[in-house]
Amino acid sequence: MSLPSFCPYEEAADRQSPNRNLAPLTAAVDLAQQLWVGGCRLADLAAHYGTPLYVLDEATLRSSCQAYGKAMARHYPGEALVLYASKAHSSLAMAALMASEGLGLDVVSAGELLTGLAGGVDPQKMILHGNNKSVVELELAIDHGVTLVLDNWLELDLLEQLCHQRQQRVRLLIRFTPGIECHTHEYIRTGHLDSKFGFDPGELDMVLQRLARAPWAEVAGLHAHIGSQIFELQPHRDLAAVMVQAMGRARQLGHHPKDLNVGGGLGVRYVARDDPPAISTWVQAVCEALVAACEQQHQPLPRLLCEPGRSIVAPAGLTLYQVGSRKEIPGGRTYIAVDGGMSDNPRPITYQAPYTACLPQRCREAGTHTVTVAGKHCESGDVLLQNIALPPIRSGDLLAVLSTGAYNASMASNYNRIPRPAAVLVQDGQAVLVQRRETNQDLLRWDVLPEHLRQSDLAGIR
Ligand code: LLP
Repeated sequence: MSLPSFCPYEEAADRQSPNRNLAPLTAAVDLAQQLWVGGCRLADLAAHYGTPLYVLDEATLRSSCQAYGKAMARHYPGEALVLYASKAHSSLAMAALMASEGLGLDVVSAGELLTGLAGGVDPQKMILHGNNKSVVELELAIDHGVTLVLDNWLELDLLEQLCHQRQQRVRLLIRFTPGIECHTHEYIRTGHLDSKFGFDPGELDMVLQRLARAPWAEVAGLHAHIGSQIFELQPHRDLAAVMVQAMGRARQLGHHPKDLNVGGGLGVRYVARDDPPAISTWVQAVCEALVAACEQQHQPLPRLLCEPGRSIVAPAGLTLYQVGSRKEIPGGRTYIAVDGGMSDNPRPITYQAPYTACLPQRCREAGTHTVTVAGKHCESGDVLLQNIALPPIRSGDLLAVLSTGAYNASMASNYNRIPRPAAVLVQDGQAVLVQRRETNQDLLRWDVLPEHLRQSDLAGIR
């Protein structure tokens, strides 16, 4: 049976909102059926940098940033700031690129914070999240004037001590759970009341009262984030109204909150059936709900902050693999194996996340064969794509998995002691390395072999 060929890179791209596309904006197929991104032929990138390889398209990244900026300017009459959620993909290059587009950064650890600083992000445009921040992380944020997202009582006590000891003040956003449910995987829902993040709404008054007596703290505003990979708009509208109410309460209790941070969460397209709202639609819904709630509740317009991660970086990225072995089960499915897997993309095994793939050297061939694409890890669940239609595949072919820019590199591991892939940024026919490929030698760097177990010299290992 011949299945219809699916050419994700040839569908009409939504140029305004990359999160609605399966492939980067610059994806193009030449007469030899070869797929190009950012003016670079993917087969050339694989030959030069090896596989697996993360490829990031600079034009798509910039378009996504600009889509947020333009929509904010169009739909919000007040001040606004977009903070890229760096957990989606953190690197020096990403931080520098976000800074060059005028975005700030949401960071969740000392590592992400230092990456942002080293990438040139203004610390005043950074906020530090975390439900169990260490003293080192708190000190780092205080010293650099990074705004802290206050998450819990222990942190409040620690901050009070630290600020007294160091005679410093800290700028805070208070995170609370708004009690809003949304439809996404349960591991990436955070706005419901039974979440590990932030204060329960019932505690908010107590927190605000305590901070009203804290000269070391400036309550700069409030924060909530309801979840990730969300396609619905209503939960975000509801969130705006709940937060404006909480801002009003903070004012009643003597604070002068300026910032209202609605978190991130806008979904992206991983497979053809996904239909996320455009960035501008999401921004418009949030802004209109916020303006309406402020009017209704007679509150001034806050500075609007949001923290998109996935919708900025997912559609800009793809992963290139080389196909190796295959297994045909009589009467069952055909597995083809690639040279990566759950260590470079843990999302399928963690969230049963679906993806789209194509053969970047035979783009227009029909998808006549249904196969399951497995990784090379010693785990049966290490499957990247279940039952997808591809042209006949041979060992040595390249396979491109699309929309892998978010939460792939950032959640990658060394499971089975497999080195992490390199990442390249492509633009106008140029590819630049932004993360070098780990080597087997790198994997041994953090191990310590105690003297009494040393039997042979490791120097010969390469
Ligand atoms: N702000 C906060 C406080 C967050 O916790 C997150 C994501 C974001 C912003 C960014 O959300 P986004 O715009 O990317 O949806 N590893 C999971 C996703 C975990 C999301 C964690 N928080 C995945 O691969 O789907």
